[in-house]
Amino acid sequence: MSAVGSKRATIAAFRARKGGVPLVCLTAYTAPVARLLDAQVDMLLVGDSLGMALYGFDSTLPVTLDMMINHGAAVVRASARALVAVDLPFGSYQESPAAAFRSAALVMAQTGCAAVKLEGGVEMAETIAFLVQRGIPVIGHVGLTPQSVNSLGGYRSRGHDEAEAAKIARDAHAVADAGAFSIVLEGMVEPLARRLTGELAIPTIGIGASPTCDGQILVTEDMAGLFSEFVPKFVKRYAQLGDQLSLAVAAYAEDVRARRFPAEEHFYRVRGAKAPDS
Ligand code: KIV
Repeated sequence: MSAVGSKRATIAAFRARKGGVPLVCLTAYTAPVARLLDAQVDMLLVGDSLGMALYGFDSTLPVTLDMMINHGAAVVRASARALVAVDLPFGSYQESPAAAFRSAALVMAQTGCAAVKLEGGVEMAETIAFLVQRGIPVIGHVGLTPQSVNSLGGYRSRGHDEAEAAKIARDAHAVADAGAFSIVLEGMVEPLARRLTGELAIPTIGIGASPTCDGQILVTEDMAGLFSEFVPKFVKRYAQLGDQLSLAVAAYAEDVRARRFPAEEHFYRVRGAKAPDS
């Protein structure tokens, strides 16, 4: 948890990066990953994408507040520098501003995170204002909003026609006007992301929304190649950790079956005793 004298990035510093050097953001769900990423990113997002990336669900909808709190607390404990934001999961905030406040306050109190993120535009503006006025920093999220996958009808990119682009623009402006300090623009065409980044006074964080945004975010498991399934167009794979893990496991399995592991250096003999001649 951040304390007096903490070196953790502040919301004000994050916001002040509008139009400057792009903000580097990645998801983190666990302590070891947070520890590895902390020094190199401006924000660690404990995204509800953990439902798919960690828990094997096929959407973010089954993710609970308890899951977000447990993972959020682990990420805050294991980091010291990056701003940590935690997603409010589906069903924990849409009902009313008061319900959203209860969920957000619980997440902040139990994790020590600096901010929460929630999805939605015009319809969430009153809730965002309610939270911000009561001391909860909020990141908005518009465009392709995975918690609405059923009403959106899938994960296709957004803003290809004028009506859809205009709706997303209204959403983004409503979120910014309500007091969000940053906004995720997900899965939208480049001219729309460029326009919104130019129009909004808060930093835009893109995922599948072009390099015109004020920052970028990816799911760490996607960019590190931990999964070999479908790779969305907007993901660049910076490593193939899944392939490396498979090779490591194959080598381990061979060693165990051939009794090459554990070797002499990996187990305990009674002190002073010599290894028997083999
Ligand atoms: O849940 C998540 O990880 C997200 C980001 C990818 C923006 O919302």
